[in-house]
Amino acid sequence: MKILIATQKPFAAAAVAGIKEILSKAGHEVALLEKYAGEDELKAAVADAQALIVRSDKVTATVLDAAPGLKIVVRAGAGFDNVDLAAATAHGVVVMNTPGQNSNAVAELAIAMMIYMARTQFTPATGSEIQGKTLGIQAFGNVGRLVGAKAEALGMKVKAIDPFLPAEKIIEGGAEPAKDLADLYSSCDYVSIHIPATPETIGSIGYELVSGMPKGATLVNTARKEVIDEAGLFRALQERPDLKYITDVAPDNYAAMQEAFGLRVFATPKKMGAQTAEANMNAGLAAARQIVDYFATGNTRFQVNK
Ligand code: 3PG
Repeated sequence: MKILIATQKPFAAAAVAGIKEILSKAGHEVALLEKYAGEDELKAAVADAQALIVRSDKVTATVLDAAPGLKIVVRAGAGFDNVDLAAATAHGVVVMNTPGQNSNAVAELAIAMMIYMARTQFTPATGSEIQGKTLGIQAFGNVGRLVGAKAEALGMKVKAIDPFLPAEKIIEGGAEPAKDLADLYSSCDYVSIHIPATPETIGSIGYELVSGMPKGATLVNTARKEVIDEAGLFRALQERPDLKYITDVAPDNYAAMQEAFGLRVFATPKKMGAQTAEANMNAGLAAARQIVDYFATGNTRFQVNK
């Protein structure tokens, strides 16, 4: 089988070597397309492939149309909002993710972001400490739990909420369950977002929730920019000069936010939550193993378009 690794934001070289080794040992041919300019290049490269490994690369219906022999797409990472699942299903293509493989990298970034904002973006201005503060975790999955454990070790009090988990599971995971989202936002000095981008969550965090945060609070987004209602967030930050926002996914209105709010806002230039050597290795190798296993045994354990 021909397997295409298509990454606009490439994996670390060691991860690429590891992926190639796993696939070629299993008798597959490997092609690599990195830092490509746009969809046309991806379409040309995937035309004769049976499997595709991507990161946040967009796998649209058009890309799937261009790949008649494609059987499987593995998103090396957690969020699969970049893959058109309905189109993949219609094309008979299995889509998988590699849950948990890059969670630690994202969790470490969320902690780093809290400290970066607490220390006023590493300027000489007097900052604050995160010890003793309350952290609210919105969605207590693989990343949320890790953020909670690390924050607790740093002396923070941790609260959490998850629409798919009962309070007992949140307590088992070491956090105090929030009554509802409004309670989480209004009772936490930091809120760290770990929800996927879905039709239900897109634009779901805006003025109401953010303006309910306590004095001096910071919102941390290592999830997806789409979950934020940017106009609502802007209004909340405008009305409340004590609030801050840090994000790994630059908002569309970032230039206006920087101009209006200065050091109270920060966005990474490129999504970097999962951009560690370890996470590249974990997610990339998992993707390769899942493809080998799928072709060898039909294993669809991590399929997301069932
Ligand atoms: C994920 O959903 O796993 C992360 O957002 C990682 O995305 P990336 O592979 O584009 O860095």
